[in-house]
Amino acid sequence: MKSIFSELKTKLRSFSLFILIRDIKNKIYFWYQNKFTDRFATWYDGSWNQPEDCLINLAPRLPSYLKEIIDLGCGSGRNFIPFNGKLNLVGLDICEESRIKWVQNFQNLKYKRLSVEQFTEYLETTDEDLSKSLIFSSGTLMYVSSEYQKRFYEICLKRGCRNFIFNEYPISSQKYERFKLPSDTFELKTYRIGNKVPVAHIRLDK
Ligand SMILES: C[S@@+](CC[C@H](N)C(=O)[O-])C[C@H]1O[C@@H](n2cnc3c(N)ncnc32)[C@H](O)[C@@H]1O
Repeated sequence: MKSIFSELKTKLRSFSLFILIRDIKNKIYFWYQNKFTDRFATWYDGSWNQPEDCLINLAPRLPSYLKEIIDLGCGSGRNFIPFNGKLNLVGLDICEESRIKWVQNFQNLKYKRLSVEQFTEYLETTDEDLSKSLIFSSGTLMYVSSEYQKRFYEICLKRGCRNFIFNEYPISSQKYERFKLPSDTFELKTYRIGNKVPVAHIRLDK
């Protein structure tokens, strides 16, 4: 009995240490982002306020089982506009919420200050159900390392997610060559006429 308790105590201690290290890591990450980078400022102040066309087209055709959209790096929320009142809106970004000027008042919006990398680690250690979620990224996953893109996609699949839209800039631009994820798993559609670079990778299960 005594040994079970001491084993439990050791496990609890190492779990708390794990949480503590993770929190410190997160704090350093956000401190670094605030201190040295402000390159995303115009994405937080509402300057970009029109949703992507593919989402406007998609909104009336959503499968009925979908309950939420998770927007990775949501900025000021322009891409929530077509889903307002239809889905629960979950925005993740590295920015503190007080800096974000939402492009409109949204119903059912939850914001979490979380990087894609941290969200990945969270999903890897919980059993969150993503089977009713649409995961969306516009110009965010391309800033995440290939390793985390892969880890993120794999854990989302494992958590039941089958609906992804990645609107990134992977081709013909060396700067964004990090965006690797969809080429072998996704149908690739060029949908911005007149602009050859951005592509959507859409796999909406019925
Ligand atoms: C080019 S902006 C696009 C904003 C928004 N998706 C849109 O289309 O309006 C990139 C966004 O990704 C966020 N971002 C950058 N790196 C990130 C990361 N590792 N995890 C989560 N968000 C990140 C930035 O803060 C910024 O809001």
